[in-house]
Amino acid sequence: MVQPLVDSTTPEPAASAGQPLLEFDQVGLEYPFEGSMRQIIQSVDLSIQPGEFVSFVGPSGCGKTSILRMVSGLNPAPIGEVRCRGQRISKPLKNVGIAFQNPVMLPWRNTLSNVMLPLEIVSPYKQEMHRKKAEFVHMAQDLLSTVRLQDFQKQYPWQLSGGMRQRASLCRALIHQPEILLLDEPFGALDAFTREEMWVMLQALWMRVKCVGILITHDLREAVFLSDKVYVMSSRPSTIIYETRIDLPRPRTLEMELSDEFNHYFSTIRRHIQH
Ligand SMILES: Nc1ncnc2c1ncn2[C@@H]1O[C@H](COP(=O)(O)OP(=O)(O)O)[C@@H](O)[C@H]1O
Ligand SMILES: [Mg+2]
Repeated sequence: MVQPLVDSTTPEPAASAGQPLLEFDQVGLEYPFEGSMRQIIQSVDLSIQPGEFVSFVGPSGCGKTSILRMVSGLNPAPIGEVRCRGQRISKPLKNVGIAFQNPVMLPWRNTLSNVMLPLEIVSPYKQEMHRKKAEFVHMAQDLLSTVRLQDFQKQYPWQLSGGMRQRASLCRALIHQPEILLLDEPFGALDAFTREEMWVMLQALWMRVKCVGILITHDLREAVFLSDKVYVMSSRPSTIIYETRIDLPRPRTLEMELSDEFNHYFSTIRRHIQH
């Protein structure tokens, strides 16, 4: 049964006090390296509530991408457990949308049809594609309008800027209405101005869809702007060395970046980053 996108003109508080959607329970990771096992992640314990947006920041190689892969189920946690609604994640989850640094769009499909691609692959949408095509097109158009791409539905990827392609790929990641959106340095390749525009658009999408967002980023301002909670990881073997709730009101604006409160969050997180 396909549900329409949730209408969220008035934002709700992100975190509820109920059961967490995701839990990390003494999660560790090691890989073979030069004849022995090298510990990458020592022990991570945390929980993420439905509708929360969290970021992970930390030095290169500390295991941030690995954390996303454990949540996605592509590489289940080898030590400890990652749970979704109390169930151990042991195989790829269906209720996940993913966006990476380099959006891969099919060059022979226009923007709208690139966004709709997952619906042709994921159940139950693929079985309903024929009967509900108009409804699905409407869902895709709704997401594209949220990121101000409503006039670019018929354009092909080569006719879009890097920022536009990334906006389209965020819509594609959300078209099957996942409960969890995984973002691995999605704006790392964009210039600073475009990146800030992307924060605003991602926030609008996330507030529209109301999923859990998990963002990996090197940009601490990006983490503060977008998150309800920021986790700072240590260098390898890593663990969470600092976490903070970001209590700025939503929707957040780029002007807020200039506020003392925003800068206090930024500098406190910065002080905890190890090299
Ligand atoms: N399949 C693998 N085999 C061996 N080592 C790996 C593998 N995947 C990742 N690693 C190592 O695990 C560490 C963490 O990787 P990653 O999660 O990509 O870190 P980050 O995203 O924080 O930069 C790195 O040192 C990387 O070399
Ligand atoms: Mg990485």
